[in-house]
Amino acid sequence: MVYESVDQIDFAVSDCPAMPLQGRVVMATPAHYDVQYVINPHMAGHVGNVDRVRARRQWETLRDAYRALGMEVHSTQGVEKLYDMVFAANAAAAFLSPDGKSPGVIMSRMATASRYDESVHYERFFRELGYDVLHLPEGLTFEGGADAVWHPGRRLIWGGYGQRTDRATHDAISAMLDVPVIPIRLDDEAFYHLDTCLCALDERTALICPAALRPEDIAMIHRLFERIIEVPETEGRERLACNAHCPDGRHVLLQKGCPHTTQKLQDAGFEPIEIDIGEFLKAGAAVYCMKLTTW
Ligand code: ARG
Repeated sequence: MVYESVDQIDFAVSDCPAMPLQGRVVMATPAHYDVQYVINPHMAGHVGNVDRVRARRQWETLRDAYRALGMEVHSTQGVEKLYDMVFAANAAAAFLSPDGKSPGVIMSRMATASRYDESVHYERFFRELGYDVLHLPEGLTFEGGADAVWHPGRRLIWGGYGQRTDRATHDAISAMLDVPVIPIRLDDEAFYHLDTCLCALDERTALICPAALRPEDIAMIHRLFERIIEVPETEGRERLACNAHCPDGRHVLLQKGCPHTTQKLQDAGFEPIEIDIGEFLKAGAAVYCMKLTTW
């Protein structure tokens, strides 16, 4: 159920049970967002350098873009001193029970001490929303939807490991959810979550930054996605172009200032929506990080 190499992949995506797309978005307000420490290379040089008023406006623009696309947005309050709590993608991995009736989350266990305390606040919020809340076995680190990306519309997970999330976490997730997982190793510190270098746009299409990935992992991606859109390294590394989100198979929300990626998305028939969340780029984050999508 956890596939290590392309020759182990003995199934097609169409063999994986179908699932509806996630229609809800969980966000946390940026009231206490700031860069106060450096836990990824993007943050270096930005400590104390966030324009909080601008950040608030950018966050609202993204929230409103989700609403305009018909997504239900649920937001929880950011908490004092938890500067990175605004990155809801890291809070948990969302799932839907196989009968499609009960949505739930597997809570994260953050790899860095500075983010550890976010979980208790998020857990309370997920319970208020009525989700089943599961926990990983002790000792495993996991940074949520950022390192557990659902193949759109199918019961299949792409799992990032090697920076924040442990490799063994993916064995646990596969067993807990009874879902096949394809682990992808992250070796480059600038691409510290899977959502910084792989974006599953629709059932057939992935947006990837090949410079961030090992050839053997790229081979697995090519095996299961019919169409691959490659992001140039500079846009991937400096503007986190892959940290985009396609909620409906058509519109792609992405950080403003990625002209090559935007053009390629358009050429492939998608409708890119450029959003400037530059204040969050200072923390090493773009669109995908800002929310957790759930059922
Ligand atoms: N500063 C945060 C960290 O390093 C940014 C998290 C970005 N989230 C993401 N889903 N890539 O943890």
